[in-house]
Amino acid sequence: MKILVIGSGGREHALAWRLAQSPRVQKIYVAPGNGGTAQPPLLENLPLQDTQALIDFARQEKIAYTVVGPEAPLAAGIVDAFRAAGLRIFGPTQAAARLESSKDYAKAFMLRHGIPTAAYQTFTDAAQAKAYIQAQGAPIVIKADGLAAGKGVVVAQTLDEALDAIDHMLGADGAFGAAGAQVVIEEFLSGEEASFIVMCDGQHILPLATSQDHKRLLDADLGPNTGGMGAYSPAPIVTPALHNRIMREVIQPAIQGMAKDGIPYTGFLYAGLMIGDGADAARALKVLEFNCRMGDPETQPIMLRVKNDLAEVFDHAVDGTLDQTDIDWDRRTAVGVVLAAAGYPEAPQKGAPITRLAPDTDTCVTFHAGTTRQDGQLLTCGGRVLCVTALADSLRRAQQAAYDAVNQTLFEGRQYRRDIGWRALATPPKHD
Ligand code: AMP
Ligand code: GLY
Repeated sequence: MKILVIGSGGREHALAWRLAQSPRVQKIYVAPGNGGTAQPPLLENLPLQDTQALIDFARQEKIAYTVVGPEAPLAAGIVDAFRAAGLRIFGPTQAAARLESSKDYAKAFMLRHGIPTAAYQTFTDAAQAKAYIQAQGAPIVIKADGLAAGKGVVVAQTLDEALDAIDHMLGADGAFGAAGAQVVIEEFLSGEEASFIVMCDGQHILPLATSQDHKRLLDADLGPNTGGMGAYSPAPIVTPALHNRIMREVIQPAIQGMAKDGIPYTGFLYAGLMIGDGADAARALKVLEFNCRMGDPETQPIMLRVKNDLAEVFDHAVDGTLDQTDIDWDRRTAVGVVLAAAGYPEAPQKGAPITRLAPDTDTCVTFHAGTTRQDGQLLTCGGRVLCVTALADSLRRAQQAAYDAVNQTLFEGRQYRRDIGWRALATPPKHD
């Protein structure tokens, strides 16, 4: 079969890489893809972004199904358009994708369906937002209401930082443009984060392996928020008891809530969770955000752990028969370290030659994100450039293998965190 993957990041490279291992797959097109997904004959990039052009291509090439990686095409309605054209596609409809594309909608949805989340209020007026912040005090969290690639969130430790963020998002400088026309201001939550991602076919839910991202640019979770600087899977903080609670308190009410609201959910659903301290049964469990797609970089370590035929799992997902399949997870731990360009996240520099890459092996793979091939040369062309991902018997060994490979990877100005996985090393593993 032929599969079309939409997107150009590390997540899409990892999905295409795993799908390509299925004996049933004859070709994977990645639109538009990156320097790592240009690997003919099995993987081929498709320089198309326009939905109608993609539909025409999928028809003409008899694509078995399409998998959508990023949020932007989902929010723009690519799933609705493909379905209207009678084509098979895995992802949420435009209406369902609002769970991610509008923080205000997502918060109201959670409140309506009893899904635990931080207390919040929404503002369009800067003066009112500032008055609310003054009344609440710091720390406090300010979120641009729209898609901002994980960078529209300010966790303000001081009142000044919070007020500046309002000027930035609602004031004259309008840094987030249309995405910043409305802000959600919410209660600061403390605890440890985890990414909990499931596949849903509208009715059945298939949870993926747990993972944890590292959102801050610098070691020890310092510096600005980014799209994610590294991830590992599994996340030992999600014990079996907590897994059950997350399914019961977050995922099932969300999927059932969407169905009740008349918007059956299909696609990946990613709950970004904040898990408070204490014994599992008593730990505060709150949703920071829903994403209507897989995480990036979480997908990279997760894909390294998939043992069975992923192409078949997607087939079931598109057909609404996810209850008839399962994913067989490698019990080992995978760690992915993101190498970002100089200047990321504010102003990433592009065009640096990537002069060395670690050789891929069964247990260590370099997934490309912001890379392109020009005249036979591999160049950087985005903020997050590569995600070096390794699998080993323990987190420490996986970390070591990933950093050994990072040390063999060279481009000018590369920045990466040296501590991916630090929280799990501090938490003794309790289960796989
Ligand atoms: P979001 O895009 O809403 O997940 O926010 C991005 C990041 O900001 C999260 O991964 C957290 O690290 C942080 N964050 C978001 N909301 C809160 C909150 N209410 N309290 C503390 N940190 C938060
Ligand atoms: N890694 C965080 C995200 O994909 O939203």
